[in-house]
Amino acid sequence: MNLEEVLNFRRSVRRYITDKDLDTEKVKHCIELATLAPNSSNMQLWEFNHITNRELINKVAKASFSQPAVTTANQLVIFVTRQDLHRHRSKQIIAFERDNITQNSPAESHERRIKAREIYYNKAIPFLYARFFGLLGIVRKLITVTVSLFRPMFINTTEAEQRAVLHKSCALAAQTFMIAMANEGYDTCPIEGFDSRRIKKLLKLPAAAEINMIVSCGYRDGNKGIFGERFRVPFDEVYKQL
Ligand SMILES: Cc1cc2nc3c(=O)[nH]c(=O)nc-3n(C[C@H](O)[C@H](O)[C@H](O)COP(=O)(O)O)c2cc1C
Repeated sequence: MNLEEVLNFRRSVRRYITDKDLDTEKVKHCIELATLAPNSSNMQLWEFNHITNRELINKVAKASFSQPAVTTANQLVIFVTRQDLHRHRSKQIIAFERDNITQNSPAESHERRIKAREIYYNKAIPFLYARFFGLLGIVRKLITVTVSLFRPMFINTTEAEQRAVLHKSCALAAQTFMIAMANEGYDTCPIEGFDSRRIKKLLKLPAAAEINMIVSCGYRDGNKGIFGERFRVPFDEVYKQL
């Protein structure tokens, strides 16, 4: 399949063939490809929980209101945001960038570029990603909106808006995963209908982690799991050329 065929093949499948296994290594490879998704500041504050254990799938299914898209799934991938890892990621990025800049940038710009990365990841990122019961977000919002009165400024700085930043990036990884799976002829369904507290408990996730979405995986059971033709609103309604 070419890319257009892959995108047309991908449907949200709500019922899978229950006695046909996916190749776990291939699914794992699709998760690896998902990490190529673009993501905010390259922070990669995501985690992928690949569930192949039937007992655990059944427990997740129960916490997902027993949707057939989960009860009949052969495997699950649970996409999780990990804002709590921001300091660790910043360190990893700076360590990488020091070598990367030294090897790939003109010598005269090394010091300036490394310094800029250090300021960004040691100062701006901790300022944006720190959380304290919503209060730090209010302080950030006041500062950034005040600055924006005088010059363009990033103002989506409340703790809720910052969480949206992580979920956007994680969802791009989920979509990249689903496209990679479709390319293998595998089916998926993105799911947000679940009890996130129960899922977090099942996965033993830390309090700061958030479930972005569950993607169930399997082989489509004929047309049983696809509810007829695909509906999209007329393109003219959503396309604006300016
Ligand atoms: C974030 C997100 C959450 C979704 N949650 C569910 C869900 O809980 N259950 C479900 O059956 N489908 C769910 N879907 C699938 C959508 O209903 C589906 O993508 C949409 O109807 C378009 O159909 P298509 O994916 O076949 O093109 C979800 C999709 C997204 C992107």
